[in-house]
Amino acid sequence: MALVVRPSPIHSTGVYTTRPIRKGVRVVEYAGPRITPEEADRLYDGASRTYLYGLEDGKTVIDGEGLGAFLNHSCDPNCEIDEIKNRVWIFAIRNIAAGEELLWDYNLYDDDDPAPCHCGSPKCRGTMYSREWMAKMRRQARKKAKNRAEKKTNSPRRSKIKNGTNGKSAAS
Ligand SMILES: C[S@@+](CC[C@H](N)C(=O)[O-])C[C@H]1O[C@@H](n2cnc3c(N)ncnc32)[C@H](O)[C@@H]1O
Ligand SMILES: [Zn+2]
Repeated sequence: MALVVRPSPIHSTGVYTTRPIRKGVRVVEYAGPRITPEEADRLYDGASRTYLYGLEDGKTVIDGEGLGAFLNHSCDPNCEIDEIKNRVWIFAIRNIAAGEELLWDYNLYDDDDPAPCHCGSPKCRGTMYSREWMAKMRRQARKKAKNRAEKKTNSPRRSKIKNGTNGKSAAS
């Protein structure tokens, strides 16, 4: 596969193909050392850019190295990522022309740091988080707002009348 790292209009640098790639082709492995989610949090908490991929077991995170970890995110991607027998690969999901940037949908989850998306696609959802995760966040926010409102309604009201003067000085 003829892949190169070049500046990207989406973010810093991205991975491009110098040759056409056919739909379904396994393009590159998302390789790197395997660490725990706790180690990943410790190492990268607050980092503006990370190269992490969480495996389906929920206990392992790949700390990405090499070309596979350099692909940017798009909400209208030409690639997808898939875990096969404990290894992670990036596949073309449509025919890709020479010169195109390779992109997959990160579908981020399990975090609430802002992750605005700059993919520029008409289908952009404005964030690199998954639709499911965003829906969960909205449900949680609604629940919190409802609880706050209920707390306010149930708390004893303070009277506006002070010392029988309706807040005004007795001399006025
Ligand atoms: C795996 S790196 C991708 C390579 C990165 N562009 C670089 O030059 O190192 C992932 C990081 O790239 C950035 N990124 C990738 N796609 C993006 C997008 N669509 N919008 C905004 N930032 C993006 C985010 O900071 C993300 O944490
Ligand atoms: Zn987008």
